[in-house]
Amino acid sequence: MNIHVTETVLRDANQSLIATRMPLKDFEGILDALDQAGYASLECWGGATFDACLRYLDEDPWQRLRTIRAHVKNTKLQMLLRGQNLLGYRHYPDDIVRRFVRKSVENGIDVIRIFDALNDLRNIEVAVDEALQAGAQVQGALCYTTSPIHTLDSFVQLGRRLEALGCQSVCIKDMAGIMTPQVAYDLVSALRQNIKLPIVVHTHCTTGLGPMTLLKAAEAGADTIDCAISCFSGGTSQPATESMHYALKEMGIDTGLREDVLKQINDHFKPVRARALDSGLLNPIVLGTETDALVYQIPGGMLSNLVAQLTAQNALDRLPEVLEETPRVRRDLGYPPLVTPSSQMVGVQAVANVLAGARYKNISKEIRAYLRGEYGQAPGAVDEALRRQVLGDEPVIQGRFADTLQPAYEASKAEIGDLARCEEDVLSFALFPVVAEKFFENRLEKESHTVTYSIRKV
Ligand code: CO
Repeated sequence: MNIHVTETVLRDANQSLIATRMPLKDFEGILDALDQAGYASLECWGGATFDACLRYLDEDPWQRLRTIRAHVKNTKLQMLLRGQNLLGYRHYPDDIVRRFVRKSVENGIDVIRIFDALNDLRNIEVAVDEALQAGAQVQGALCYTTSPIHTLDSFVQLGRRLEALGCQSVCIKDMAGIMTPQVAYDLVSALRQNIKLPIVVHTHCTTGLGPMTLLKAAEAGADTIDCAISCFSGGTSQPATESMHYALKEMGIDTGLREDVLKQINDHFKPVRARALDSGLLNPIVLGTETDALVYQIPGGMLSNLVAQLTAQNALDRLPEVLEETPRVRRDLGYPPLVTPSSQMVGVQAVANVLAGARYKNISKEIRAYLRGEYGQAPGAVDEALRRQVLGDEPVIQGRFADTLQPAYEASKAEIGDLARCEEDVLSFALFPVVAEKFFENRLEKESHTVTYSIRKV
């Protein structure tokens, strides 16, 4: 028996442990070894990496991808894409989605994992279609969550629909680390019985279940598991690559990984981790095990946000009430999976409901947009009385929200003008206008210094 391993150190581990602040120079020197280790793929781009490169690291994310590709010649490069949201936080028009996906592939991406936070597949179909046309391997992801309507059967139906869309593999994406080992076993088994595609399992160690969950997924016949090299594993990150490898090997499941190369990779990242701990970038709290998420069935990150919000309002003593209100708000909204942005929406509203002493007295503009259907269709039934209270006579969008958006590429191109030098620049600007423009201005400024300097030297 064998199983494939995707290494997440450059993307999810980096994002989950150190807020995606790892600069290229911290891993450029180990890219050749990462290519030699025997990974099925290297998750190295997408998610929050794009925004973080431009916003905090003064790095061109496209250049980062090309540099990775120049070193990693054999192993597949993988990215995470939020469907119609691409790598941003709102829905983009189809022309931007198609161009962005195509450029990602042209710059070196082989595998694109695509998901929608509500599991509304209308929000991923354009990205899936373009990725297939561009020749990428398309992995459809289903966001795992627990609720009265999220049954084993509902996830199997989603898997079937991902297969029908043309996806070439299906990922069970447990972003909160709340999938238990037995559920992983049952879900992988059920998907294998009902669809022909390879099954990938993605989880986090937040609640401490991660390694057990992956082991049971492997026992059930999962084709690929996501792991992070040990010194960037655990806590809010993935289970350790080496530990999973040794455990599976003993059970007769071959990962194809080279132990000597894994050691070399881990040795490389040890000082990176040490520096992150020293600087406070890596907070020991995220390395711990947080089982409250299992009790409340809400992700660890959301729990800490609730605590932060209540602390800021000097009302931490109201936390028990907020924790009771949270599942009620979620029910009223039709049980969205608690992942960005719905986790924030539900949390903020639950706090508002408790502190105002009256439910839905204050409503955020995000909840209004959600009730209007701007994020897509809720998994379950939305409370109609609440919807009417918020929207009045305003119509609800029944179709795909992106159908209401005008093409934006040409307008973005005209707006940014000469500061953009290629289509990739225009796309960076279309996704993150303020941040990208500032990045381009800095780039120009740095170049003018370089020129002056070299002239003086001459
Ligand atoms: Co993740």
